[in-house]
Amino acid sequence: MGVHAQSTEITARVAEIIEGLKSLEGPLLPILHEIQDDFGYVPRESLPVIAEALNLSNAEVHGVVSFYHDYRREPAGRHVLKLCQAEACQSMGSDAVAARVKRLLGIGFHETTADGSVTLEPVYCLGLCACAPSAMLDGAVIGRLDDETIDEIVAEVRA
Ligand code: FES
Repeated sequence: MGVHAQSTEITARVAEIIEGLKSLEGPLLPILHEIQDDFGYVPRESLPVIAEALNLSNAEVHGVVSFYHDYRREPAGRHVLKLCQAEACQSMGSDAVAARVKRLLGIGFHETTADGSVTLEPVYCLGLCACAPSAMLDGAVIGRLDDETIDEIVAEVRA
């Protein structure tokens, strides 16, 4: 399938999503949310389609997508690793955890490793403060991160 055919499919699906949600009050965020749910990210091609349907400028839609870090602009890696950066985890060393993970993976937050194995994201409280510092790997929470568990997680996602 060529790139062109693929973008046509994306815009068609995006148009369908917009159609279903545009009568909501403040439809932009629900539309972006649904697009991300559907594709796993917000494809670049969807932005002008949204802008036109909602009577916004491309820059406005772009601004919203960049403002909310929850929206991905690239497809995520096979694994998504979220590191809690909220207060309770901060006080238990989440900065050092993040530094170690970033060094081991060679990427920063909101980035995906070049081999597509993992996307790293910050998250703000996983409700696991008692077991800080915590993380979430593919939807499963992990508490009490230390060097050993971090190394295990990294080995697992890169396997
Ligand atoms: S602050 Fe990290 S889990 Fe609550």
